[in-house]
Amino acid sequence: MILNCALDGPGGAGKSTIAREVAKRLGIVYVDTGALYRTLALNCLRKGIEISSEDRVIESLADANVELSYLDGAQRVLLNGEDVSLQIRTAEISMAASSVSAIPKVREHLIDMQRDIAAKNSCIMDGRDIGTVILPNADVKIFLTASPEERARRRYKELCERNEAADYEVVLREINERDYNDSHRKTAPLRQAEDAVLIDTSGMGIEEAVESVISVIKEKTDFFQMSP
Ligand code: DC
Repeated sequence: MILNCALDGPGGAGKSTIAREVAKRLGIVYVDTGALYRTLALNCLRKGIEISSEDRVIESLADANVELSYLDGAQRVLLNGEDVSLQIRTAEISMAASSVSAIPKVREHLIDMQRDIAAKNSCIMDGRDIGTVILPNADVKIFLTASPEERARRRYKELCERNEAADYEVVLREINERDYNDSHRKTAPLRQAEDAVLIDTSGMGIEEAVESVISVIKEKTDFFQMSP
């Protein structure tokens, strides 16, 4: 039996940390779909393509071969064969990915790839439109959120811990900007699917959030009965 779990929610809600841990405990694949949009954004920036120029961004898709590979359970993303998993994690790429992902042709370009992975693997897939568009028939859908202030605090702490220059107000502004972009675009905007379970991680630690996600999977699917 294949288990498909759709995990959507705004940036910084802890989706990746939580989904990675849930995947590990359940022995399934963690798919971070944001990495795909980030990689297409990186490709544009490297080529000097204005992100605001929709036609040029669309043209750039022709020679941007994006692949996901899994090494010891960790996802790596390849751009024309080059591992760019680290290069896509900057604030500049976060904002560029949010803009690029609003272009319908960019989204179309990535649909089959995401569906293929889910058809072949039990997985928890993290994104913005997984439960609404990519996997409308997912076995379980979760919408994971936290207040913008809480998400900004976590991000700010993370940057300080990595000794990177950080300003809480700037972090909060970027989070609000990205939330607005992601939820107001015309195609596949960020929204909770009607049949998704809402988990608000404000004030929750990672362990509590991981356990909440696992208990929703237990409640909504027979994955645990089916597994040996
Ligand atoms: O999850 P993330 O922060 O890595 O995502 C980067 C951007 O990509 C995000 O601002 C919106 C977009 N995205 C999307 O539109 N659909 C997805 N399934 C995943 C990400």
